[in-house]
This record gives sequence, structure tokens and C-alpha cells, in this order.
Amino acid sequence: MAPLVVHVTGARPNFPKAAPVLAALGEQPVEQLLVHTGQHYDDKMSDVFFRQLGIPKPDVNLGVGSGSHGRQTAKVMEALEELFEDRRPDMVIVYGDVNSTVAAALVASKMGIAIAHVEAGLRSFDMTMPEEINRLVTDVLCDVLWTPSPDADANLAAEGIPSVRVTRVGNIMMDSFELIRPQLDAEAAAARLNMKAGGYGIVTLHRPANVDDAQQLATIVDALCTAQSLLPLVFPVHPRTRQRLAAAHLDERLAQAGVLLLEPLSYKPFMSLLKDARLAITDSGGLQEETTYLGIPCLTMRENTERPITISEGTNRLTSPAGLLADIRTSLGNDAPRPVRPQYWDGATAGRCVDDLRARRG
Ligand code: UD1
Repeated sequence: MAPLVVHVTGARPNFPKAAPVLAALGEQPVEQLLVHTGQHYDDKMSDVFFRQLGIPKPDVNLGVGSGSHGRQTAKVMEALEELFEDRRPDMVIVYGDVNSTVAAALVASKMGIAIAHVEAGLRSFDMTMPEEINRLVTDVLCDVLWTPSPDADANLAAEGIPSVRVTRVGNIMMDSFELIRPQLDAEAAAARLNMKAGGYGIVTLHRPANVDDAQQLATIVDALCTAQSLLPLVFPVHPRTRQRLAAAHLDERLAQAGVLLLEPLSYKPFMSLLKDARLAITDSGGLQEETTYLGIPCLTMRENTERPITISEGTNRLTSPAGLLADIRTSLGNDAPRPVRPQYWDGATAGRCVDDLRARRG
């Protein structure tokens, strides 16, 4: 019988990571089962990514929805334990650093099921970030750690994780990007929004540290309103951020200043818009990588990043609410940087994951 591999996905950033791995493993003699935990459930946060990336419909949707961290993680664990008991997978593959990732790793490890982690080894060294806790716990439990960059290898080594568990495969997000790149010109997202290529900035914010504190959010909004006169801004708003902006009436302030507020964008329009942007302002993880790959300056609204290679080799700079405006001015005063391709950020990462699994089976 073919071995059964279960992929566990749940939140928006998981989907572009899983798509290439599902496709590459689909060509191997394995049975695959795709689980969606339901952590994200809006069409714009979930289903549309499946359609655009050609991901098959999930075989199972656990429907856990939103909730506190404990409740959300527990609901995923409870449902997965039942599923794994029923299906007895040979391997579970988990992605990134969301609550669904750590929940799956905890359940599978206690059941003695082998686990592989795509995007292992990233560390912000900031334990106030829920994702940092998820990353640490997930990596310590996984049997196969697929890392995107040398800094990730070094982090795992420093934590005493045996090197036999670690294989550097590169950045899986670039596989998804290369998959849809040929379709991006036809998408013409900038033109549809009446924006000129190279003449606008793109903003995304959703981290609790930025959006859950009303004062912090107001400072960011003030900077964005002033920056709008230097560079037109497009801001696709995450549901968490939408709630926080509305509660403080800050959405009105942004709209009055001319900032273009949009619903969350799906993968293709977002990448089309990003590719032609002059600047990105974000607290997303993936965007720090994509801007580096595309040669677009990125101001990351965080005190740290688990993706330091995007600073040391790429186009990323950390910023703060108070420093944002000055950093935007500096960035606009500089020439546009060139695209940077760290080793193995080349669209062939999923193939290296499959090669690694075959090598490990001997
Ligand atoms: C989660 C991940 C974060 C990732 C982000 C991308 C964790 C700890 N965090 O954060 O790492 O960068 O996804 O989006 O796993 N909501 C909706 N519709 C949805 C999903 C969420 O309206 O489809 C709203 C709900 O009010 C929910 C809130 O957004 O309470 C936050 O959702 P949640 O899944 O808890 O975390 P994110 O902030 O999305």
C-alpha cells in the first residue's frame, strides 16, 4: 500500500506553502490527504487561494474557526487526533508558524507519526509573538526540518537539534510565485485600481502588536495619512485590522486622506500589485521575502524579524510607528534596489523536499 501523507493547513500564509509540495508529491507513489483546519474561513482568506493556486479541495475541513489561542489550538488538536487515529498516516507535513501548525505537530508527535516542517528554523527571538512560540515548539517535535536559509540552519544547531534532521531546501514561497508569474501581467491589478506601475505603495498590517493597541495603530495611521501625499497607498485590510480600525474610526481617517482601503486581496491580484509597487509597508512574514525576491523596498513594522536574510542580503528594513514617515521619505529618495535571490530561492524548493524524503527512505 502507498504511504499516506497528511498535509495540515489552516491559515492564509499556509496555502501558498502547501500548493507546490502537494503538486510535487502528487507525482510520487504516495497517497495524500489534505486537511484544512478552518482557522481561516472567509473566502478571501482561504478558498480563493485554493482556486488560484490549483490546490485540490481539502479532503477534510475541521471547521475550527476563530477563538483564543488556547481554544483554537485545542480544537485543532482534538479533531486531528481523531482523524490521525482513524487514518493512521505515515507522515504529517506542517507549514509555517500558525496555531494550526503547532497543534498538528503536538498531536502527531505524541502519536509517534513522523512530521516534516516546511519553513523550519526561523526565529525572531521575540517570545511575545505567538508565532515564535509556535515555531520553537514545532521544530523541536519534527523529524524532518526543511529550512529556507542558512540563518535557519544556524538557529536549529544552536538549539541542539541534530543536523541529520535538517535539510536546507530554500524558500517554498518562491515556488508559488514562479507558478503564477506568467499570469501576473494579464492580471493588471495596478491599472485596475488606476495606479501607475512604480508609482504607489502597498500596505499590509495584521500583527496584534501593531493593530490591537489603539494608540500604536493611531500613530501608524497618522504616518500613512501624511505619506499618502508623497506616494499613493493601497491598503488591503486583514479582517483583524478591519475590526480594530473601525472600532477607533481610523478607517475614516485613512479614507479621507485618500489611502485606498480594500478587502483582503487574493494571491494573484496581490502579487500583481506587489510586483509593480514602489514600496511595501508591512508586518507580514511572506512579504519581506517576496519584496526581496522582486527588488522592492520593504519597510517592516516590527522590532525584529525571523527572516534576517531579507535585511542582510535583501531589500527589507525594520521600521516603527514613530519612524515610519522618515523611513518612507528615505526610501523614496533612494534608487529602487535590485532583486536578490538567496541560495535556493528559485522556484525548485518543493522538488528538493521530495528528493530529501526519497533520500531519507534510502
Ligand atoms: C494568523 C496567524 C499569523 C498569520 C496570519 C495571516 C496565528 C497565531 N497567527 O493570524 O501568524 O500571519 O494568520 O493572516 O496562527 N478572521 C476573519 N476571517 C477569517 C479569519 C480570521 O474574520 O477567515 C478574523 C477573526 O475575527 C479572528 C481574527 O481575524 O478572530 C484573527 O484570526 P486568527 O486566525 O486568530 O489570527 P490572524 O490574526 O489571522
